[in-house]
Amino acid sequence: MRLTIIGSGYVGLVTGACFAKLGHTVTCVDIDPEKVQKINKGVSPIYEEGLDSLLLTYQDRISATTDYNKAMEQSDITFLCVGTPSLKNGGIDLRYIKESTQQIASTLKNKKNRHLVVVKSTVLPGTTQQIILPLLEQFSGKKVGADIGLAMNPEFLKEGVAIKDFLEPDRIVIGSYDEKSRTTLRELYKTFSCPLVETSLSAAEMIKYASNAFLATKISFINEIGNLCKKLDIDTYDVATGMGFDKRIGRPFLDSGIGWGGSCFPKDIDALLAWAKELKEPARIIESTRQVNADQPLRLVELLKKHVPKLKGKTIGVLGLAFKPNTDDIRDSRAIPIVKELLKHGALVKAYDPQAMENFKKLYPSLTYCSTADEVLTADAVLITTKWNEFSTLKYQGKIVIDGRRLEQAKNAKIYEGVCW
Ligand code: UGA
Repeated sequence: MRLTIIGSGYVGLVTGACFAKLGHTVTCVDIDPEKVQKINKGVSPIYEEGLDSLLLTYQDRISATTDYNKAMEQSDITFLCVGTPSLKNGGIDLRYIKESTQQIASTLKNKKNRHLVVVKSTVLPGTTQQIILPLLEQFSGKKVGADIGLAMNPEFLKEGVAIKDFLEPDRIVIGSYDEKSRTTLRELYKTFSCPLVETSLSAAEMIKYASNAFLATKISFINEIGNLCKKLDIDTYDVATGMGFDKRIGRPFLDSGIGWGGSCFPKDIDALLAWAKELKEPARIIESTRQVNADQPLRLVELLKKHVPKLKGKTIGVLGLAFKPNTDDIRDSRAIPIVKELLKHGALVKAYDPQAMENFKKLYPSLTYCSTADEVLTADAVLITTKWNEFSTLKYQGKIVIDGRRLEQAKNAKIYEGVCW
């Protein structure tokens, strides 16, 4: 099929590159001409494992442009993959959704064939039907359900393993407005062997939020259990293993530590809570999930103070700045509140991350950024904040290490403490 992807962030670009790999012809649209240029050269504008190689290998099937008309001229389906950032009150900012929907609709005005618009961006239940649909009709002068198809097809991609997640999903969710849209997406995904969940537009939207809120809750839950275990001298990871074999629970996302960050969980949880407030519906579990997560990184600094009571003037090493390994993304990284707290106490911070230092420098330009992880180990004490593989090969002997991510090798340190174990 011929596909247009609006928004070349990590969702749009991974979706586009994977569809190109599957044999489709893909045109990506982005407002940033620099991104467009890179994609056309087969270079990924973002750091995502395997993306460069896909863009280069399938260069003949994937291209990019800033021009909606050019991108949609020949295509059958347009995927809306623009960002949905947070407003100041935590609510969802639909600016990019509205702008690009208007552009799509204006382009559809002159198109003869039926065209399917698929929303992949994370939007609150009701948004596709109540905001996107009317805009499509208003700016195209056409009827959704007749000349324009409409569907909601959320993504469940984890940064760092997004390509694998796309190509081998646990499930594909298709929320559709009309039967024809459903059939077209069934056809597009026919080579996938996972379950296809076919549902309404708003159920598809809710599945995305409920999934992220549940996963974040699972992590906060095990962190709360972990905090109890720490007091009782029980290894939380043994507890997680024992729980995880129960098929109703499952082991993934029971790694206790300093909590969740990233571009998705924090933003989606904030949006869900702001929305629940608007609906005057209490969301106590999700509220507590967020609270546990806000407190968790500070526990690492508390543990550090047990061994280095006066942080003023002490050099503290921070291993890992990205919100998780294999990404340069620092959005809501747990390293941020930790560094903030260390600086508040007058500590001198020495940090290292294999990919995220450039991004972190924009937030904290005056930390000492080391060129190797080894250099960080010269500090008075070291905190492990992201579980990068390369941190496993360091020599921790003789050091004070406070671990927020359960790095087995760090247990060789002179003084070793884990946040939940
Ligand atoms: C998350 C979801 O996992 C994806 O399914 C979803 O598609 C994506 O958000 C999104 O909405 O776009 P991602 O933000 O890439 O993916 O990151 P995760 O791998 O889920 O990790 C999130 C955070 O939780 C990280 O800070 C990680 O360190 C932490 N985490 C994860 C734990 O503390 N413990 C765990 O057991 C697992």
